[in-house]
Amino acid sequence: MKDITPSALREVYVEVPEVHWDDVGGLADVKRQLQEMVEWPLKHPELFEQMGIEPPKGILLYGPPGTGKTLLAKAAATESQANFISVKGPEVLSKWVGESEKAIREIFKKARQAAPCIVFFDELDSIAPRRGGHTDSGVTERMVNQILSEMDGLVSLKNVVVIGATNRPELIDPALLRPGRFDRSVYIPIPDRSAREEIFKVHTKKMPLDEGVDLKALAEKTEGYTGADIAAVCREAALSALREDMKPKKIQMKHFETALKTIQPSVSKEDLLRYDDSKKMLGKMFV
Ligand SMILES: Nc1ncnc2c1ncn2[C@@H]1O[C@H](COP(=O)(O)OP(=O)(O)OP(=O)(O)O)[C@@H](O)[C@H]1O
Ligand SMILES: [Mg+2]
Repeated sequence: MKDITPSALREVYVEVPEVHWDDVGGLADVKRQLQEMVEWPLKHPELFEQMGIEPPKGILLYGPPGTGKTLLAKAAATESQANFISVKGPEVLSKWVGESEKAIREIFKKARQAAPCIVFFDELDSIAPRRGGHTDSGVTERMVNQILSEMDGLVSLKNVVVIGATNRPELIDPALLRPGRFDRSVYIPIPDRSAREEIFKVHTKKMPLDEGVDLKALAEKTEGYTGADIAAVCREAALSALREDMKPKKIQMKHFETALKTIQPSVSKEDLLRYDDSKKMLGKMFV
């Protein structure tokens, strides 16, 4: 194991991402929700005060892998002109062994200093699973408690929005989903046909495409493909064109056809059913 020194705490990096709403294909409704829940409050906090409403402190994005959760969180930060602190659940546990609560305190402290700021907890289920399990020596339990107290605003969380992401919402400690914590949840689905077409547009924007390339047809052919799969298809199509003779050239439909043969949809039908279940379950918790 590496780097368990106290200085590991310095590894809370503040970034300024460069991802715009336009870089996210499809998900129009999700983008609108994030604009209202994140962008407006961070850009115009005074409006919320004047209207007498509190913006949400925490938002949970959940759904299958590769559907754009991380991308959306970054776009929300860019478009809100906010700083971005990204924390990967498993990393917090491994890098900050024995100091996990301190790490959480440090993350929130940095966030307040860097406000307006978005704190992004990726793979939230790994740091905030239901308490009372016997899987570790109470580490995650203490972390959940620390996150709860930070989010409860014992120390004021002004201009800081927390976004969590997970593929397994059913594993998350329900205490984290109560009002004033991650009290909004947004399901990020596998893209439908028209969303797939938009994602193809995003990922071919900078590519020299032959006139014969029909993005609509590609969208038709890629049922079950996630945004990440589509990005891979586009990359693979360009590579397949290059492989012919290592010269820059227009990418043709046949290159995409070749790419589709190597890149298969990453989410299976069974997985999809499981996501549907977790969506229903979480839906119930919020009524
Ligand atoms: N809606 C989308 N529009 C454009 N590109 C997308 C979209 N969804 C995914 N991608 C592409 O796939 C990559 C991976 O997506 P991202 O990391 O946001 O997925 P995720 O939902 O966070 O997955 P995981 O649950 O595995 O963390 C992105 O960097 C982007 O290139
Ligand atoms: Mg992600």
